[in-house]
Amino acid sequence: MPTIAVTGATGNLGGLVMDHLLTSGVAAGDVIPLVRSDAKGRRFAARGMAPRVATYDDPEGFARAIEGVDKLVLISPPSPDNAVRLQQLHGAVMAVHASNLTQLAYVGLADPEERPFCLEDVDLAIEHSILAAGIPFTFLRNSVYLDELGPELAAAAASGELLSATGNHPMNWAPRADMAAAIAGAVTQEGHLGATYNLVSPEPYTYDDIAALLSQATGRPVTHRAAPGPDVVQSLTTWGMDPDHAQAMVEDFQAAIATGKCHTTGGDIERLSGRSGRPTADYLVSLAQSAQSSR
Ligand SMILES: NC(=O)c1ccc[n+]([C@@H]2O[C@H](COP(=O)([O-])OP(=O)(O)OC[C@H]3O[C@@H](n4cnc5c(N)ncnc54)[C@H](OP(=O)(O)O)[C@@H]3O)[C@@H](O)[C@H]2O)c1
Repeated sequence: MPTIAVTGATGNLGGLVMDHLLTSGVAAGDVIPLVRSDAKGRRFAARGMAPRVATYDDPEGFARAIEGVDKLVLISPPSPDNAVRLQQLHGAVMAVHASNLTQLAYVGLADPEERPFCLEDVDLAIEHSILAAGIPFTFLRNSVYLDELGPELAAAAASGELLSATGNHPMNWAPRADMAAAIAGAVTQEGHLGATYNLVSPEPYTYDDIAALLSQATGRPVTHRAAPGPDVVQSLTTWGMDPDHAQAMVEDFQAAIATGKCHTTGGDIERLSGRSGRPTADYLVSLAQSAQSSR
């Protein structure tokens, strides 16, 4: 069986990708979590996986860490600074270029040409570097994680009002676990080399739709109210969200939705994973409950 390394293994998405690799039958010893220190690798070693230390900031160490690896899931790093992310990913791609990998699965953002987040230029540049270097690739373009909405849903369930500065434009968000399952599918099934997948929901949801789903699932009325960004930040902060996080939710996520460019739909999640990629009422309630309990 080919060995599969995963960057961002200690993160939300990387962890879920590895879980799906294991449940789809990849032997634990063939899963290689790439972590930033030996200490961070111990919990994976305890599960029989084979962690290695690699950071994007040390291209030579990264190259050593992927020696002998067959496939790599390269998840775009979390820095919001495009120049930093570009440099980090460039180092990783050059390391892959010098290796014998049979598949590089690069995970960036959905619909990069639309640029709703102003982060997508890096994804496009990296995809082009991978193409130019002749690396065997699969591109996986992720929508926004529906899971990011948890605190907003909890605040809405408590107050009966879901506030947003989205202009009620649709968003093609999908559960992170469904996107992770699709990514795992792309490196475990045959036939995905040279393919580009847009991992978005099969239908887009507005904040009106989300409020209606929440009402239906909780049995209590929740309405969506359009509000200026600072009011939404204030309301989330009053509920208990960290002010910087609240600001990012409004100025990054809600502002991206308000561009009206996040409406594309598709069936790639289901094609790769068999999971729907559709936000369900029960899932929204579970997100609200988990945000409420971790407040
Ligand atoms: N689609 C969306 O809605 C959305 C939302 C947020 C982020 N993203 C993007 O999707 C990616 C995965 O999301 P996530 O929720 O899994 O993020 P996350 O939970 O914040 O995980 C980030 C991972 O990157 C690792 N990392 C950070 N800096 C690194 C470096 N210099 N070298 C090597 N590893 C480094 C972290 O390692 P440590 O544990 O050691 O810190 C962690 O494993 C993010 O990196 C970001 O690009 C997408």
